[in-house]
Amino acid sequence: MSGGEHDHRAATKQGRTRVGILISGAGSNMAAIIEAAKAGDYPAEIAVVISNNPEAPGLALARAAGIEALAIDHRPFGKARHEHETAIDAALRERGVEAVVLAGYMRILTGHLVRAWEGRMLNIHPSLLPKYPGLDTHARAIASGEAEAGCTVHLVTEGVDEGPVLGQARVPVEAADTPEALAARVRIAEHRLYPETLAAFIRQRKTAPV
Ligand code: GRF
Repeated sequence: MSGGEHDHRAATKQGRTRVGILISGAGSNMAAIIEAAKAGDYPAEIAVVISNNPEAPGLALARAAGIEALAIDHRPFGKARHEHETAIDAALRERGVEAVVLAGYMRILTGHLVRAWEGRMLNIHPSLLPKYPGLDTHARAIASGEAEAGCTVHLVTEGVDEGPVLGQARVPVEAADTPEALAARVRIAEHRLYPETLAAFIRQRKTAPV
């Protein structure tokens, strides 16, 4: 174990859980969590933001907030998904990360990384799971005549959008909704739900018997 890792663990015992956030794009959920973590009583600190997409606007947002932000581009790895994930995993561990938040991370993870972070990796999905896993959730919810839509924070397991649900928020579907209009309404709910659910998850883990 390196001295750095040791220091992180010692610091963690007294204080906040070190969280790494994985993004691919805008990073609005990431920004909401970074903002929430400014509060003195928030139980997490954001140790690092990592994007597989070097052009992700979220990287600049994170840096502007004083958070270390890395691009680990998947493209040079080609089909070697596992090696790309190994690079991400190493970057997280070097920074003493204890829990991982997927916030618009648009790569499907292999079982290798999922198992490595089992029970400590969260995702947000813009539907009321188990309804509408996968892509195009808003268009599908509208086409099905749903009166309600929403978002779900869940633990990541090997099945896509399948892990245990940690929290959900609901919004109405309006008669004239386009997928974009519904997505914008859901997004506002996401920005409240994700920081709150992450905090509740960490507090519950800290008080749970080992
Ligand atoms: C969100 O709608 C989230 O539910 C989905 O990807 C989107 C990410 O948006 N997983 P942002 O990058 O957080 O703005």
